[in-house]
Amino acid sequence: MTAQLHARGDVAVVVPAAGAGVRLGPGGPKALRLLEGEPLLVHAVRRLAAAPSVRLIVVAAPPADVDAVHALLAPVAPVTVVAGGAERQESVAAALAAVPEEVAIVLVHDAARCLTPPSVIERVAAAVREGADAVIPVLPVVDTIKEVGGDDIVLGTVDRSALRAVQTPQGFRATALRAAHAAAADSHTDDAGAVEKLGIPVRCVPGSDLALKITRPIDLALATHLLALPDPDAASA
Ligand code: CTP
Ligand code: MG
Repeated sequence: MTAQLHARGDVAVVVPAAGAGVRLGPGGPKALRLLEGEPLLVHAVRRLAAAPSVRLIVVAAPPADVDAVHALLAPVAPVTVVAGGAERQESVAAALAAVPEEVAIVLVHDAARCLTPPSVIERVAAAVREGADAVIPVLPVVDTIKEVGGDDIVLGTVDRSALRAVQTPQGFRATALRAAHAAAADSHTDDAGAVEKLGIPVRCVPGSDLALKITRPIDLALATHLLALPDPDAASA
């Protein structure tokens, strides 16, 4: 049985949380590392559970930690926990397999983007509900971007007005996501990328600075400060 959250919700969220967190440095799986005394995964699931569209959550945990993760999350929200795989894509596939067929909208959300506000989760879900097969939250690129050759010599300056940095949750019509995973031959870090390869249009909606991915130690330091901020988008969700 898949544990249910908001009975009126129409969205399942798949949470890949099985990564090692190599770039964060020693200290165990990233999703279980602490931010102000609580694991990143707890912060992430709490925000997902606060989004009224979310009917159920399936977490892909490090295989050795499935029972511990279930115990950790039980007080936060009813969740299903499965064993993740060696690659992110395998973790997403394992969690997706636990989503009941009758749930028509599936979001994929990195545990590492643990401060993503409910407003972004609702925005992505709403765009799928309104008819998009695939939806990604994005931010404009702020740095100047150069293409550089192997010899460290600049080849050109990229027009950044057409570029976007992509976050999660990424939202999908469940049939599109399942088809993309079934067809994916090579490894991908981005589920929307796999859907793109099927020729399905992917729609962008505004992301959030709070949805940063905790990757390196500096991100954890930044997140400690961001934790104190209110969701600037709460009113426009
Ligand atoms: N992930 C996963 N299974 C994997 C690899 C990654 O579920 N085999 C998850 C991570 O737990 C994370 C998300 O995918 O929530 C994004 O991956 P990333 O930020 O790269 O996390 P890690 O793989 O843990 O970090 P690193 O690449 O530094 O080891
Ligand atoms: Mg990784």
